[in-house]
Amino acid sequence: MTILVTGGAGFIGSNFVLDWLAQSQEKVVTLDALTYAGNRENLAILKGDERHHFVHGDIGDRALLDQLLATHQPRAILHFAAESHVDRSIHGPGAFIKTNVEGTFTLLDAARAYWSGLNEDIKGDFRFLHVSTDEVYGSLAPDAPAFTETHPYEPNSPYSASKAASDHLVRAWHHTYGLPVLTTNCSNNYGPFHFPEKLIPLMIVNALAGKPLPVYGDGQQIRDWLYVKDHCSAIRTVLAQGRLGETYNVGGWNEKANIDIVKTVCALLDELRPSSEGPYARLITYVKDRPGHDRRYAIDARKIERELGWRPAETFETGIRKTVQWYLDHPDWVARVQSGAYRDWMEKQYA
Ligand code: NAD
Ligand code: DAU
Repeated sequence: MTILVTGGAGFIGSNFVLDWLAQSQEKVVTLDALTYAGNRENLAILKGDERHHFVHGDIGDRALLDQLLATHQPRAILHFAAESHVDRSIHGPGAFIKTNVEGTFTLLDAARAYWSGLNEDIKGDFRFLHVSTDEVYGSLAPDAPAFTETHPYEPNSPYSASKAASDHLVRAWHHTYGLPVLTTNCSNNYGPFHFPEKLIPLMIVNALAGKPLPVYGDGQQIRDWLYVKDHCSAIRTVLAQGRLGETYNVGGWNEKANIDIVKTVCALLDELRPSSEGPYARLITYVKDRPGHDRRYAIDARKIERELGWRPAETFETGIRKTVQWYLDHPDWVARVQSGAYRDWMEKQYA
């Protein structure tokens, strides 16, 4: 048996592939376009492992998809591939429409053609699992209840609008064509292999380099944080037990203001890698806010717990400690992802 993972060289996708192969003999085919966010080094440990097959390619390439599906005959497609950074979507929304909307459409249609041709005895077991985000629900007022699966879609950024569009396409391919789909809408992830353009890894690598820690606006925006390996276990659970056509919210019950996240990272670094210059919090710098910045996200993850028995294993305290330690233990990985393209982005965003 085989699963096809799109975006498996990115942050969450690579954690998923590594976790999958750590607990299963089932083969994984990873399809990844290796954009700036994709990194084959994340999967380096799998070199020579016959259970893993890496394909460098685009989800928008229909001929490639048809060939991959025909060759590998996966029993499931796990769709992680996306442009994922909100700030980049503000500077250049086109790539988000191309990959997240058009790419998801192409993948869905290829999956439909493949699934339609399967023998009746295996057709019912096929799954298309779409990995999505809580950002499709928009922004919450301070005292509003957390997002449930029935919360209206109110995406506010080009990124979240493109993900909302992809969710709707997935829903329609189920409703109209009967494609056996599952969708997960997850809150903010953090953990190993997180590209240092996102809040937590950016704060860790900037602090270690003695650079400013840029906090947007007043730093009181709230995100709901989940350790990436808990997201991976939620996806495995939904794949195994999720009801067809359903969506499942995934979250860590960890609502935190950005400024508190940054202070926590600083305190952990003070403990684990003290600086001779003094506490890392001295580097905190308030900068211009993100345009259209969503104020608060919070996930109500009771459905996945009630129906499928999933709960996160990590608390924020255990997860963030592991994460900071991982970055301290992997300076070479950090140095290598900070390429010329990375420096160009930093210059553009924070100049
Ligand atoms: P990421 O940006 O780290 O990785 C995305 C991966 O997709 C990269 O390896 C990239 O090379 C690949 N990719 C991009 N365009 C592609 C294309 N056209 N064809 C094939 N591959 C392509 O993203 P991530 O943070 O790992 O997010 C993975 C998925 O999870 C995304 O769909 C994202 O919307 C969703 N998600 C992310 C979070 C989070 O906190 N990071 C939370 C909820 C949901
Ligand atoms: O909620 C899930 C989403 O979480 C995913 O769908 C996205 O793919 C993922 O990138 C993430 O989006 P955010 O915009 O919430 O993540 P980011 O790490 O970019 O920012 C987290 C918060 O920190 C947000 O309120 C903006 C703020 N921030 C971010 C950066 C990069 C800063 O204050 N300073 C910064 O330099």
